[in-house]
Amino acid sequence: MIIGVIAAMDEELEILLPKLNLDRKEIKAQMEFNFGTLFGKQVVLVRCGIGKVNAAVCTQILIDDFNVNTVINVGVAGGIGKDVFPGDVVIGSNLVQHDVDTTAFGDRIGQIPRLDTYEFVCNEELVLLAKKACEELNENNHYAGRIVTGDQFIADSKKIQWLEEEFKAMACEMEGGSIAHVCYLNSIPFVVIRSISDNANNGAHMDYEKFKPIAVKNSSTIIENMLKLI
Ligand code: ADE
Repeated sequence: MIIGVIAAMDEELEILLPKLNLDRKEIKAQMEFNFGTLFGKQVVLVRCGIGKVNAAVCTQILIDDFNVNTVINVGVAGGIGKDVFPGDVVIGSNLVQHDVDTTAFGDRIGQIPRLDTYEFVCNEELVLLAKKACEELNENNHYAGRIVTGDQFIADSKKIQWLEEEFKAMACEMEGGSIAHVCYLNSIPFVVIRSISDNANNGAHMDYEKFKPIAVKNSSTIIENMLKLI
């Protein structure tokens, strides 16, 4: 098993990278792929950059060029709903891209036109492992639920209310849905694990800067625990 661990930003990998027993590095599409063993498991750690296109390109490279057969996406996200707070963790049960809109043709919002699925379902075993890995994070709550993805940093209470009502989502971010989409097309098991850095409402960008270090620490601990459980 070769596990691809994808994060959008350098900050999200800064705890894990020094712990990697590095075999080699390779740069492709301006992304640095780090090969080695992490807590005894063969992994490729990569920072894909922000947004759906970067994330999709990265995921396909991992699958085609580096034989990755399991994908874990970690990082931060905006929390949705009154129960999800900065520091909490949302494990994706499924992913939907909230910015896909072909409703003019009668599609439901979020539906990729002509694709045989609406939501991209995370691998059940990986979700279970992620839940177990979270149980040791005793000071934070963790939830499993839908995560929505779009090429937008959400900092608007009306928009977040719409995401809650329309998608019944628990978190919003900018990569998970496209990683999930690529994994779906390639039949590769995946899971998306996001630590909440803000509530995606007015002022989200300030909370984001404040809570990001805690959120990054949480996701790194979860990856460590998961790899030890696999
Ligand atoms: N990642 C972290 N917070 C976010 C937000 N509010 N919107 C989109 N992506 C995020």
